[in-house]
Amino acid sequence: MTASSAPGKIILFGEHAVVYGRPAVAVPVTQVHADVEVSASSRPGIWVHAPGVNLDAELNSLPSDHPLAAVIHNLFFSLGISPFPPLDIRVNSTIPVASGLGSGAAVSVALLRALSSHLGHTMTDEQVSAFAFEIEKLHHGTPSGIDNTVITYARPVYFIKRHPIETVKVGEPFTLVIGDTGIPAPTKQSVGDVRRLVAKNNYRMERVFDEVGQIALMARRIIECGHTAMLGDLMDQNHAYLQEMTVSSPELDKLVRAARKAGALGAKLSGGGRGGNMIALVPPDLAEAVSRSLLEAGAKRAIVTQVP
Ligand code: PMV
Repeated sequence: MTASSAPGKIILFGEHAVVYGRPAVAVPVTQVHADVEVSASSRPGIWVHAPGVNLDAELNSLPSDHPLAAVIHNLFFSLGISPFPPLDIRVNSTIPVASGLGSGAAVSVALLRALSSHLGHTMTDEQVSAFAFEIEKLHHGTPSGIDNTVITYARPVYFIKRHPIETVKVGEPFTLVIGDTGIPAPTKQSVGDVRRLVAKNNYRMERVFDEVGQIALMARRIIECGHTAMLGDLMDQNHAYLQEMTVSSPELDKLVRAARKAGALGAKLSGGGRGGNMIALVPPDLAEAVSRSLLEAGAKRAIVTQVP
């Protein structure tokens, strides 16, 4: 049996603007993860079990653009494996789906690693990330590539589309609370809406993306210097620009306000927006109080995570 695990992720700064070539900062979240086990099967065919999404099926019965089927077919094709060996593939994930925590990319990364090493073709991180990016296109349409990158390398990254990966050294650990609205929000939709906004008001949106890019650049410097309390203001500013991009929602804004009121140093939505998650930067001793306030304000779950 061959097993692999991949973490979730959050975007600290720069979502959406990253699709338009501006930098973004993202970190892995190890409290949630996707786990894949591959083993030889006693029956013919490739059996995919993913109890979290009620899937228990033979590969050929899945539509070819199903994300799991696409990973398996594409990998076998690129490795030149035919006929397919009989396999049992188990996929388990604690990462909430469609919530900005990178569940799709994490499943792809864990599946690619487990399957390729089971078949004796261990892939490099670069290959895994590039492969997962192709699968992301099925989920998102026009992804920037930030999810597959931060999840493959499992380290804080400063990401610019189509540029080589730059990892970020964290000068001093900092604590975040992640609040989940519980509202599933397909990234494809919010990315499409921002695209329509760009088409309508190109000049203003390019200025907004420039500002967000500057915020991401400053945030990177602050994280590296270890002056992390200064990130709070940048989060608040980034959230205001995301509101202008129309990707926030009353529920996200409510959680952001609740976190600030409970003592967070700053807060913003994280990921595609409309639903999904928000994040708050907190002094470690206030993490519990902020989590409680988020739950009282309607969050379905609150996760405390430290960026080490
Ligand atoms: O996968 P999510 O919901 O964390 O969103 C990804 C961030 C976007 O910038 C909105 C899209 C992208 O591909 O970068």
